[in-house]
Amino acid sequence: MPATRRQFLGLTTVAGLSLLAGCSAKARPAAGPPSAGGLRLTAAPMRLDLAGREIPTWGYGMVPGPEIRLKAGDVMRVRLENALPEDTTVHWHGLAPPNGMDGVPGVTQDPVTPGDGFTYEFETPIAGSFMYHAHVGMQLDRGLYGPLVVEPRTEELSYDREYTLMLDDWRDGVDAADHAGHGATPETEEPPAAEEVSFGGRAYPLLLVDGRPPEDPRVLEVRPGDRVRLRVMNVAADTGFRFAIAGHRLTVTHTDGMPVESVTVDALRLGMGERYDVLVDAAQSGGAWQVGVQAEGRRGWGRAVLRYTGSEATTAPVAAERPAELDGRLPSYDELLSREPLALPAGEPDRVYDLVLSGTQIGGQSYPDADPLPVAEGERVRLTMRNTSAKWHPMHLHGHHFQVLTPSGRGPVKDTVTVPARGGVVTFDFLATNPGDWLFHCHNHHHMEDGMVRLVRYVDA
Ligand code: C2O
Ligand code: CU
Repeated sequence: MPATRRQFLGLTTVAGLSLLAGCSAKARPAAGPPSAGGLRLTAAPMRLDLAGREIPTWGYGMVPGPEIRLKAGDVMRVRLENALPEDTTVHWHGLAPPNGMDGVPGVTQDPVTPGDGFTYEFETPIAGSFMYHAHVGMQLDRGLYGPLVVEPRTEELSYDREYTLMLDDWRDGVDAADHAGHGATPETEEPPAAEEVSFGGRAYPLLLVDGRPPEDPRVLEVRPGDRVRLRVMNVAADTGFRFAIAGHRLTVTHTDGMPVESVTVDALRLGMGERYDVLVDAAQSGGAWQVGVQAEGRRGWGRAVLRYTGSEATTAPVAAERPAELDGRLPSYDELLSREPLALPAGEPDRVYDLVLSGTQIGGQSYPDADPLPVAEGERVRLTMRNTSAKWHPMHLHGHHFQVLTPSGRGPVKDTVTVPARGGVVTFDFLATNPGDWLFHCHNHHHMEDGMVRLVRYVDA
């Protein structure tokens, strides 16, 4: 692992921890992963600097929260302290912990009350790019989220540096009227092809990349010839994103942290809760290039900057400059081939659920007035979702990885899958190996609050 990367990560982690009132955390050496030694997350009111303007929000000391980085097989131990005026929990999005560590209040644990704490502790056997976030009401709509990376014991990819980018829609403490009609939204019209793609409908005046608005972008330093790994994560409440980098193509290596055969594309589309790992060759000779993030189906713009260290022209592009690559080729689930398919027993699935997504209902029901979906340990379970609504729904299953059924027979292994609007159908299979009650829900938080949730419930066969 190159020194640049190690240093960068070390600094990030230390900066995060030092804000977290944890003396034990502070004493840890800069470089080591925060494994069994313990990490403290304090959920508390805080102020966030948005391009010079301080707004009040809730977070884990910084937005995004401090990066948690472990190695496959490590034990993650995180002490959550609740300094908020209401209950909270933390969910480890994409990980498959024992049920009691999953962070869903009222389902897997009692909510953590103000002034109280809870220790999450479990093994993280599977490498990948994950996220953590609060799972109480709309708390995630504030700054209560962060990146969680589990590195493999042996890294197969070779790259010179890596960056994690969390994409978010934002309105906390920001006056919508303030931002209407100016700011960083490109003055070009909405992208024509994207008109029909909408993941939500609420007003969000800002898009943030790693907690930063377009006027004060995150800068990713590279050198000519570098290969850079990006872990791109959509943690927004209500917004699907298009992501591209001017002058550079993206080689997809993982989706939701799970490896796929490499596919090179111009842009990504990420539903809420989805992640993509991409490799980017820094093949330009220098300059500063726009990393553009566009909201699908509505106005909204965010960005970071890819800057070639030491080259002449390193002035950031103007905030609203829109990479043409955003309109280029996107990867489809059908062309993503899993490199590590699930070990599903051959033959027909043991249990099949066929669910219509209409409005914000699943199978015509709204949680909590909704039937659980029983499964039994050891079963191969198939779930089909038919979306008749006008919104695209990113559907997330807790506690499991599933394999998307595609014509190749080797569809990507994921934990969140977007079902297109107006007739979109997606089917996935999973192996029931993790007993408990698990949430299955749309990762649009407004839809979730509306009841777009079911429980997958382990029962005796
Ligand atoms: Cu990001 Cu219920 O999940
Ligand atoms: Cu939805």
